[in-house]
Amino acid sequence: MTRAAGIDRLLANNRAWAAEVERTRPGFFAHLAKQQSPAYLWIGCADSRVPANEIVGLEPGELFVHRNVANLVHHADLNGLSVLQFAVDVLKVKHIIVCGHYGCSGVYAALRDTRLGVAEHWIRPVRDVCECHRQELDQLPTESARIDRLCELNVMQQVRNLCRTPIVQDAWRRGQKLALHSWVYGLADGLVRTLGPSVAGLKSFDELGASYLMRGAF
Ligand code: CO
Repeated sequence: MTRAAGIDRLLANNRAWAAEVERTRPGFFAHLAKQQSPAYLWIGCADSRVPANEIVGLEPGELFVHRNVANLVHHADLNGLSVLQFAVDVLKVKHIIVCGHYGCSGVYAALRDTRLGVAEHWIRPVRDVCECHRQELDQLPTESARIDRLCELNVMQQVRNLCRTPIVQDAWRRGQKLALHSWVYGLADGLVRTLGPSVAGLKSFDELGASYLMRGAF
């Protein structure tokens, strides 16, 4: 069987990268192979234009990463929840970053309400966010502006969802240091915007009620 066109380039790139890292920092991989102790969990979109480590300048071993379409935290997603639990309970990350991005195709699909097959089930929560904020979104002048605002609102909803998980609540109850951050990334300029203050140490979800997250304002 012949390899798909272009795949050899990736393997060559990998060999060159590994050699360069080892040349500049001998023992880098041997050290990393023994353990990982990242301080951050990244929950981001699967979009190829939003590479987690590169955006924030972190190296292998520094960022625990979970990515899916539209950077969602589903309450029954075993994949995402397994990542979250491992990151919080075992790795004891100090920060969880939910990073959306402007122009997100998953968010666009949710806004347009088109038929997508099984993917509709995945992005259903984004449609719920859209319906909750329909009045605000309808007042925006262009579809592009509506998509971008929905990208922001979606990130804040996912942080709310994180606050509702027993994993995060139990961590806060036992006094573990864990802050949640709402970010959105601009494809056009490579810059991250923070959406309001970080959330940390809530004793109950009710505490979130009066915060920016619940109002959706920042
Ligand atoms: Co996206």
